Amino acid sequence: MDVSQLMFRDGLMADERILVTGGGTGLGREMAEGFLKLGATVYICGRRQNKLDETASELMAAHGGKVVPMACDIRDADAIHAMVDAIWADGGALTGVVNNAAGNFISRTEDLSVNGFNAIADIVMRGTFYVTLDIGKRLIAEKKRASFLSILTTWVWSGSAFVVPSAMSKTAINAMTQSLATEWGRYGLRFNAIAPGLFPTKGMSARLSPGGQGGNSKNDLNPMGRAGEMHELVNLAVFLMGKGAEYVNGQTIAIDGAGYQANGGTFYPQLHALGDAEWAMMREMIKGTNAKDKADRAVG
Ligand code: HXC
Repeated sequence: MDVSQLMFRDGLMADERILVTGGGTGLGREMAEGFLKLGATVYICGRRQNKLDETASELMAAHGGKVVPMACDIRDADAIHAMVDAIWADGGALTGVVNNAAGNFISRTEDLSVNGFNAIADIVMRGTFYVTLDIGKRLIAEKKRASFLSILTTWVWSGSAFVVPSAMSKTAINAMTQSLATEWGRYGLRFNAIAPGLFPTKGMSARLSPGGQGGNSKNDLNPMGRAGEMHELVNLAVFLMGKGAEYVNGQTIAIDGAGYQANGGTFYPQLHALGDAEWAMMREMIKGTNAKDKADRAVG
C-alpha cells in the first residue's frame, strides 16, 4: 500500500491494540500496515508462522512500532483461546478485532464434497464466530470498549453462484454483525463490516480466477473501470476502527466502485458457460495452490 495515501493523522491509533486475523497476507496485511502506521499495536494471526514472521518484520522495518505474529488456525477454538490469553498477557485487552481470515475457491456446487463446504464454513463462519465470542466475553467481563470489523462481500446481499459456501458463510457473519451490534452495543462493543469488491491479492486470484478466468467483476464492467486500490480499503477500515465515528454501529459498507449496483458483483457472468474440462482444469490449479500453502504451514 502507498501509505502516503492514508487520510488520517499520525498517532490517531496510538492507544489501539488490534488483532487482524489473516493478517500475514492479502487484505489483512494491508490493514495491519495502515493501523501500524497510525500508531496501533497490531497482532496478526494466520496458519503460516513463516509468513507471519516475514510480514511482521517487514512492517516493523518500514514503520517501526509493534507487530506481533501469532500462528493460529481460527477453526480451532482452543487455539484461539490460547492466542487471546497470550495477547492479554502481552499488554491487556484488545481495543479492536478485524475478522479478515477467510477461505474460498470457485467451484460448481454439485462438485463440492461435505469436506469442501466445511473447509470454507469452518474458517469463515465458525472461526470468525469463535474469535468474536472468545474476545467478546473477555471484554464484557472487563467492561472494556472495542470495535469489531468483519470483511465480507456484496454477496451477503445477492448470494453468488459458484462460491456458495463463501456466500452462505459471509451472509452468516453479516447477520452476526447486525445482531451483536444490537445485543452488545450496551457493553460498548460495536460491530461493522466492509464488503469489498475486487481488490486483487495473490491468494484470491489463485483461487477465484485460476489461470486468469473468472474474477468477481471484470474491470471493464465496473462503473469506475478499475479494481480497488488498497489504500481505499485501508482508509475505510481505519475510519471504522479508529476513534471519532463511534456511533457507526451495525453497518456493512460496500467499497466496490458501485460494481454491485451495476452488475451484481458476482461470478455468474464470467463462469456460467464453462464446461467440464474447464472446471476440471481450474480445480487442479486451485488444489495446486492449496497444496503449496499446506507445505508452507508444515514448515512454519
Ligand atoms: C472442489 C475443493 C477445491 C476445489 C479444495 N477442495 N479445493 N473442492 N474444488 N477447487 C476440497 C478438497 O477436495 C477437500 O475435500 C476440502 O476442500 C478441503 O481441502 P484442503 O485443501 O484439505 O483444505 P485446507 O488445506 O483446509 O484449505 C482450506 C481452503 C484453502 C479454504 C480449501 O483454499 C485455503 O486455505 N484458503 C485460504 C486462502 C484463501 O482462500 N484466500 C482467498 C480468499 S477470497 P475432500 O472431500 O477432497 O476431502 C475470499 C472472498 C473473496 O474469501 C471475495 C471477492 C469479492
